[in-house]
This record gives sequence, C-alpha cells and structure tokens, in this order.
Amino acid sequence: MKVPPYRERRCQLAQRLHLAGGGIAILPTAPERRRNGDSDHPFRHDSHFHHLSGFDEPQSWLVLRSDGHSVLFCRTHSPERAIWDGPRLGPEQAPAVLGVDEAHPLERLDELLPALIAQSPVVWSVFAAADHTSGALARWTVAAALLGDSTPAAHQDLGPLLDEMRLIKDEHEIATMRRAAVISAGAHARAMRYCAGRFRANPAAAVREYEIEAELLHEFRRHGAQSPAYPSIVAAGANACVLHYAAGNATLRAGELCLIDAGCELDGYASDITRTFPATGRFDPAQRELYEIVLAAQDAAVAVTRPGARQRDAHHAAVKVLAQGMLDTGLLDRQKVGDVEAVMATGAYRQFYMHGTGHWLGRDVHDVGEYLALDEPPLEQPDEEGRTVVRQPSRLLRPGMVVTLEPGLYVRPAPGVPERFWHMGIRIEDDAVITPTGCDLISREVPVSVAEIEALMRG
Ligand code: GLY
Ligand code: MN
Ligand code: MN
Repeated sequence: MKVPPYRERRCQLAQRLHLAGGGIAILPTAPERRRNGDSDHPFRHDSHFHHLSGFDEPQSWLVLRSDGHSVLFCRTHSPERAIWDGPRLGPEQAPAVLGVDEAHPLERLDELLPALIAQSPVVWSVFAAADHTSGALARWTVAAALLGDSTPAAHQDLGPLLDEMRLIKDEHEIATMRRAAVISAGAHARAMRYCAGRFRANPAAAVREYEIEAELLHEFRRHGAQSPAYPSIVAAGANACVLHYAAGNATLRAGELCLIDAGCELDGYASDITRTFPATGRFDPAQRELYEIVLAAQDAAVAVTRPGARQRDAHHAAVKVLAQGMLDTGLLDRQKVGDVEAVMATGAYRQFYMHGTGHWLGRDVHDVGEYLALDEPPLEQPDEEGRTVVRQPSRLLRPGMVVTLEPGLYVRPAPGVPERFWHMGIRIEDDAVITPTGCDLISREVPVSVAEIEALMRG
C-alpha cells in the first residue's frame, strides 16, 4: 500500500515555515454549520486542514512547528456520543493512525496553545478563515503575552504557502482526481441516456430538471463519491443562459438543449464537467452550428494547454474561435463590429461569452493558487475592453497543475441576433491535468462530439 502523503506534506510545509522565519502554524478544520432548527449541513472538512492531516472529524485543530513537530487536537472518545454519532478516533489513537507526533483532547487547546505561541516568533494562520479562528487566536495570543517576557509573536498569513503547495498535485491527488472525473463522466452519460429513453418512450414527454439531477446523484453515490463538488446545474432550454442556474422544477422538452454542469467530490477532490446535449438525442441545424463553434473553441484551448504556456492562453485561444464563430453565424454583425481582431479588442464577444475559460481544480472546485506570475515584470496587454493596461502576465503552466477548459456561448434575444439561436446556452467543460508534454483530459469518458453524443443517446 502507498504511504499516506500527509506526513510528507506536513514536512514540506514545516520546511517552508522554517525558510520564512519559523514559528508555528495553527489550522482548524471547518466549522459545523447549522442548516435550520437543530439540523446541521452535512459536515465537510476544511480543504487545507485535510490536505495536511487526512482527518475528517469536525472540531479538530492541527498545530505544526517549523521544526516539523505536529500536534493534533481532537474530540475524545465518548461512549454516549458513540451511540448517537458513531465512534471518534480520539487522541489516544491519533498518533498511530494519522502519524502526528502528539494528540490532545480538544478541551486542552486553551491550556496548551498559549505556551506554544509564547515560544514562537511567528504565528501562521489562514487569514481567509479568520471569521471562525480570530477569537481563539486572539485569546491565546493575549494569554501567551502574559506567560513570559518574550516579544509577542507576529501573525502571518499561512494561506499563500498552502495555496502554492496545493497548486501542484502529487500522484496520489491526480489518481483521486482521475477517479472523480470518471465517475462524473459516467453520471453525464447516464443523464444523456435517461433523457433519450424518456423521449423515446414518449416524444411529448416533459422531463423535469430535478429528475435529471437525481440521475447524476445516483451515479455519484453509487460509485462512492461523497457528494456533488458544487450545486449541480441542470438547465433546460433557455435556463442555460443563466450561468449559475441550479437544477430546478423546469421542464425539458423535445427540441430543446439541456446543459448540465455537475461533478462529484471524491475523497476531498472535485471534478467539474459540463455537457450540452439535445433532449431527444438529435441536434437540430442551429444547435449543431453553435455547438460546433464551442467545441472548436475548446479544441483550441486544449491545444495551447501545456507546460510553458500561460494560464490565460487557453482563454485567448477560445475567444478567438468563438469570435470568429459569432461573425460567421451572424450573432455579431461584421458591418458594426469589424473583424475578429476588432471583436477581441473591443470585447464585443462578451455579449455571448462573458466568463473565463478555466480555473484551477483540486480540493475546491475553484481551487486555490495564484493566477498571476507575481515574480515576473508587468507587461503591457489589452484588458477586456481592449484598452492597453500594464499588468502581471498570467502564470506559466507546469506539470501537476489541473485546470478546467470551459468555453461557451449564451444567446439572449436581442435586436439583430438571428432568432433561430435565441435562448440557446451551450458550454463544454473538461478537466485537464498538465503533463510534461501537454495536457491530459481526464473527463472524456463522456462523449463530446456531436456524432458521439448522438450515438450514445441512440444506443
Ligand atoms: N461548475 C463551476 C464552474 O464551472 O466553474
Ligand atoms: Mn469550471
Ligand atoms: Mn463547471
């Protein structure tokens, strides 16, 4: 069996802390969140905390010294709570199971943390999590100051160090992300087959978005994924033009497109896939025309996604193809907006394509990691409106990064826009691991070409 990666990650972080001035990192898992009345949302660990501990019980804290010594605080075993909620790991077992050097009951945080802080020149915590840590940190810092005559510890943000570590995925993470993407791809294929089956049985069927969502969930859970990685988008017809539409009660009818943006979370890792398909399994000519443009835009984005390229290159490549498609189909009027270069420079394409072409993917669907090359000199470049601005270039891609590639076209009715395209929303999204020579699309177990989607839905 492979050695769990958590201890190695803690060592790496400790080395980074050491190089950055030493001190201790204090990191709680996520808070439990009340849903309503006395019901909670299902507990989901904090991504940073889990990355370093592999531990998914609530109310836990990890304290890591820059010499590598790690201390876990966790809930104690309780025969009474075991009856209601099941067993807890408990501090006795934590060192053997999680490889931490020490573990203590949660209740000892207030007693032990001030001394640890008093010995540290720097206290590292994730500033973005401050809303649920700042009270405790302030209390311990004051108590630490009362303990001795050392200079009070400086507080520094642990976020950027952890973000940077998480941006490059190790083998263990990529293997999990591949499995998540395969499960999600299977769910998309299942949803396509479901719709095809319903319309085959009854061409006048009215398929509700929530039925399709249920197919996705069924497939996620039956393969062991814990939950969707984000609220599933299942958008019938015109709803696809609402970018963050959530699966609702609307009906999908023959002749419409269905856009699904859904991915499971498996063992703490997200997948993020979008497919757009015709309800009955046959694209009509107008649907096909726009679909092929989005697919060509994605192909262009894939072609430039490789080590040494920049994260934004995929967006520029996709926009170029989309802009050309907008002119060719008459979505944009050449007489008014000019040629492709003009459409790109003025941002006229944003009427039909208003989001970016991808993001980092990992434990969080919009994963952590800086997008800009902060260590390079700023460059003159065009902004979204075509003005020349001076800003940091986007960052160079490296093997082990994982990105999404997700161009789209969204056509709202407007004067001059050909009516046959009105209300169509199309997005195609895949997950790409950067390899030494290019990128590997790990979500392609669900088809993406017109012919393959039609074949799957026929079969
Ligand atoms: N599903 C969220 C996104 O595609 O960014
Ligand atoms: Mn995405
Ligand atoms: Mn998505």
